[in-house]
Amino acid sequence: MITGKTLITGVIGHPIEHSFSPPMHNNAYKLMNMDYKYVPFHVEVENLKHVITSAKTLNIKGLNVTIPHKTTIIPYLDEIDETAEKIGAVNTINFKDGIAKGYNTDGIGAIVSIEKYTSLKDKNIMIIGAGGASKAITFTLLNKNINQLIVANRSKDNAQKLITNLKNQTNFENIDFINIKKTDNVIDDVDIIINTTPIGMYPKDEVAPPIKTDKISSKHTVMDIIYNPLETQLLKQSKKQGATTIPGTHMLINQGIKAFKIFTGKTPSYESFEKPLLKHLQG
Ligand SMILES: NC(=O)c1ccc[n+]([C@@H]2O[C@H](COP(=O)([O-])OP(=O)(O)OC[C@H]3O[C@@H](n4cnc5c(N)ncnc54)[C@H](OP(=O)(O)O)[C@@H]3O)[C@@H](O)[C@H]2O)c1
Repeated sequence: MITGKTLITGVIGHPIEHSFSPPMHNNAYKLMNMDYKYVPFHVEVENLKHVITSAKTLNIKGLNVTIPHKTTIIPYLDEIDETAEKIGAVNTINFKDGIAKGYNTDGIGAIVSIEKYTSLKDKNIMIIGAGGASKAITFTLLNKNINQLIVANRSKDNAQKLITNLKNQTNFENIDFINIKKTDNVIDDVDIIINTTPIGMYPKDEVAPPIKTDKISSKHTVMDIIYNPLETQLLKQSKKQGATTIPGTHMLINQGIKAFKIFTGKTPSYESFEKPLLKHLQG
């Protein structure tokens, strides 16, 4: 029941009606007996400038930020966490004592998901894609004592921009580019593969994986950050080759759990987020 004491959190985006965050957060509030509600807010690009002042006026406690506002929201914030600033994108805003502070939980959400299966220390990691999600994940990865990062991408320019940015912002130099069509040349030397391109996402879930999978084997851990379908062609083929596979739902859940903690100070169970997500994804 919503009362005068109920606290409001939510997510802003455009479009927003297909967001999986409301069922995940609201289920956790319910199971934890917390008097909070999580609401989707459809915010058009031209109205973004009003969001922070409006949220403060309405005493909103926290907002997630999704496509297309993750970067353009930054100038309207009062403060930004160091990692989010380096990534250049915010997916979580906390409102406290009249201050709106931005965070990025996408990178840490991905890292926590991988570490559940394998350690990152001294590993050679290939990330496919050089867009927003890749940026969040790679910045966070470089704090984990990995050995090497390879960015496999279609556009060399976009990959080089990311690599230069990563090298400038960290002390890590062992980062190389490879054309997305030539990953066969390096796959034997790689331990962990992360797909951050939308190739294989519903409704185009039958297309070939973003990279050739013949050389993937039981020594590899393969994560696809696509969460619809639950098992992409990349994960299906990698599993057949004996690899350990991690679906994109894990990152989605873990980034949400980190945001929930920022909003409320409490950590919900993984299952409280997973159950409603799987229900929605499985229709
Ligand atoms: N699980 C989660 O929690 C989570 C969180 C965030 C995002 N995601 C998912 O991650 C995916 C990417 O999001 P993003 O925000 O990073 O997108 P983005 O900024 O648009 O970047 C997309 C990347 O994919 C590459 N790409 C796109 N289409 C391609 C194609 N046909 N062939 C080869 N490469 C292609 C692009 O290559 P170029 O540089 O060559 O253009 C770029 O590197 C989406 O599917 C999104 O749903 C999942």
